[in-house]
Amino acid sequence: MGKGAVGPICDQKEPEELKVKELKKHHRQCHELENCAAHQDQPLFQPYQLGSFHLSHRVVMAPLTRCRSYNTIPQPHAALYYSQRATAGGLIISEATGISVTHQGFPHTPGIWTQEQTEAWKPIVKAVHDKGAIFFCQIWHCGRVTHNAYQPNGAAPISSTTKRVHGKLVLPNGIDMAEYSTPRAIETKEIPGIVEDFRLSARNCIEAGFDGVELHGAHGYLIDQFTKDGINDRTDEYGGSVENRSRFLLEIVAAVAKEIGAHRLGVRLSPFSQYADAFDSDPISHFTYLIQALQPFNLLYVHCVEPRVKGNTDIETNESLEPIRKAWKHSTFIAAGGYSRDEANEAIKTGRADLIVFGRFFVSNPDLPLRFKLHAPLNHYDRNTFYTQDPVIGYTDYPFLSEDWEEEKEDKN
Ligand SMILES: Cc1cc2nc3c(=O)[nH]c(=O)nc-3n(C[C@H](O)[C@H](O)[C@H](O)COP(=O)(O)O)c2cc1C
Repeated sequence: MGKGAVGPICDQKEPEELKVKELKKHHRQCHELENCAAHQDQPLFQPYQLGSFHLSHRVVMAPLTRCRSYNTIPQPHAALYYSQRATAGGLIISEATGISVTHQGFPHTPGIWTQEQTEAWKPIVKAVHDKGAIFFCQIWHCGRVTHNAYQPNGAAPISSTTKRVHGKLVLPNGIDMAEYSTPRAIETKEIPGIVEDFRLSARNCIEAGFDGVELHGAHGYLIDQFTKDGINDRTDEYGGSVENRSRFLLEIVAAVAKEIGAHRLGVRLSPFSQYADAFDSDPISHFTYLIQALQPFNLLYVHCVEPRVKGNTDIETNESLEPIRKAWKHSTFIAAGGYSRDEANEAIKTGRADLIVFGRFFVSNPDLPLRFKLHAPLNHYDRNTFYTQDPVIGYTDYPFLSEDWEEEKEDKN
């Protein structure tokens, strides 16, 4: 439905004229939120023009690795999972999706570098489009955040450095744990090949039907291993100064933008996150430089993670994304990390972000926008099933809001 089109009840009467019961029914049915006075009290439900994409609300689904794409092939259960979370005019960013055979660092994450993977994404993308949502594919390479067991022939993982990540990870069988492996610092002459992997995967994303691509430049994975000075110890033109450390990402952006168009390209960054030892000595000035260097590409958006979140857990901090947001005046600014509904409304109202991404709440609430709209209670998420392989449990079995949720809430009180 285009601009101005609303659900059937809106065509008959203004929502405020409806009786209370009818209004509740209307809220449940009205997934087309535009021009509907009943939803204008929350900035999250003001429509937004994201380049050529018309969003009916600003509750964006985060990229969420779920480890259920067996042997890197996206599975039919993902069509149900994503379509449960799709709304007309809503934006979904896919789980991080691999660009090459060396990308992997978690069990059963999907890829999009082969034809088989690309074909397997098609029905999933279609299921999301059938609900009227916009679907971007996040593409990544884990770099050193992995183990030899994930690598072809047990080879060393690739990175900007030979320093390994401290700590342990889950091995490909989804059960056993091991220390991160020591990476191999790639040679300068290998870099064009990796840029090419990103380009070809982005092309496959468009072939699979995705509306656009997000480059995963966050959370200590390969791109961040070049960007952050706490990791990158190179002496070639990809290491040292902030200009040099930014070069890897900028070359990928240039290649992907040329392939698919900057109008459908976004970049995710986590300037402050130290997840996977991704430390930077001066995130504000380094990422302000990077953000400014991205401006000439006319990207669709920049998507940044708040300092208060480290990967998928909350931490205490006084820092905020505000200086980075101020440096990105060019197009849409998306913020993620630890947002409640009220904080998200406030962030949009005060211009701290144009769109807000929700992660953990979207895992456990397939109908999150509706619940926010109604001020309804949220299901709690279960961390134990974030990265397990069951095609249903902790994946597609979180309950939708019941028709009688208000009555049930009253009964419990
Ligand atoms: C289960 C899980 C998987 C995640 N996978 C990804 C991912 O694939 N790519 C990414 O950029 N961030 C990933 N994240 C981080 C989220 O996108 C998001 O930034 C984080 O959950 C903070 O947002 P929240 O407070 O709304 O949950 C993941 C988080 C969780 C909980």
